[in-house]
Amino acid sequence: IRRIGVYTSGGDAPGMNAAIRAVVRTALYHDLEVTGIFRGYEGMIEGDFKNLVSRSVSSILQKGGTMLKSARCPEFRTVEGRKKAYENIKAAGIDALVAIGGDGTFTGAQIFSNEYNIPVMCIPGTIDNDLAGTDYTLGFDTANNTVIESIDKIKDTAASHNRLFFVEVMGRDSGSIALYAGVAGGAEAIMLPEKDTAIDELIEMLEVAKERNKTSMIVIVAEGDKNGGAYNVAKRVKEKFDFYDTKVSILGHLQRGGSPSSFDRILATRMGYFAVNELLSGNSQGTVGIRGSKITSTSLEDALKGKEFKLDEELITISEVMNI
Ligand code: F6P
Repeated sequence: IRRIGVYTSGGDAPGMNAAIRAVVRTALYHDLEVTGIFRGYEGMIEGDFKNLVSRSVSSILQKGGTMLKSARCPEFRTVEGRKKAYENIKAAGIDALVAIGGDGTFTGAQIFSNEYNIPVMCIPGTIDNDLAGTDYTLGFDTANNTVIESIDKIKDTAASHNRLFFVEVMGRDSGSIALYAGVAGGAEAIMLPEKDTAIDELIEMLEVAKERNKTSMIVIVAEGDKNGGAYNVAKRVKEKFDFYDTKVSILGHLQRGGSPSSFDRILATRMGYFAVNELLSGNSQGTVGIRGSKITSTSLEDALKGKEFKLDEELITISEVMNI
């Protein structure tokens, strides 16, 4: 390997910059060269490349977003699109890739690597924490901290006015943020896409909480909850349970930004370092992950097959016990 191409793709996540920095600096340490590929697969197809040196990644460790920009690219799903991408990669002398993103990014990397025999290592970067092969994805911890800060603030005003708040958090297909932020923020109920809680069941929980003399309450609703989001849940609850003044708060894209937490910076740095070293030792088509406290690698095949990321059942139980 002489030159590594690094890119970010799919939804951005805090910690992506720290991972880019770690990939660049580890590669330079091993006397490799690095090309930054802008806008993910879109930039690969258009040849939007830039040589990266150590100073190119100065002072990005603490920044949210991604300096390489990100995009979702339908053209890369086509044979013709990938052919264009390969021609650009070849012309730029790139002979290995590090991809940072979610499962769409990983799938693209796997297909491309198979087609053109180019080594690739992936780094899980998404606030959703919904990838197999790792306990935590980059950005999840930061997003949780952002959500908790918001819940704490909402709790102050909810308590002052004896209100019931429905707070919607991100997670189109995943309840990770909802569960973790719900536990850390002391929510009365958590609506998860994985759980499919019926409105009547939720009302029962709220009735119990009311019996326990709770004067205000927070319900966390994951974006992907089957009842159709916080506004719908609030409306349907109010039809049968109208004891509290009810408000809805959708946190939205603010959850995707912000300076990465210490945890995410360290995780990103370890993962970037590990990804380059894996390429150098001949590994390909793998995703880097953290298991317990150890950085590991899982084949993309296994990671993508085991796509049904499971939520921590015990944490769901704990969240219920905490509401006694
Ligand atoms: O980053 C993951 C995620 O936040 C999902 O939970 C959400 O549904 C989606 O991205 C929205 O992304 P975008 O607005 O970029 O399409």
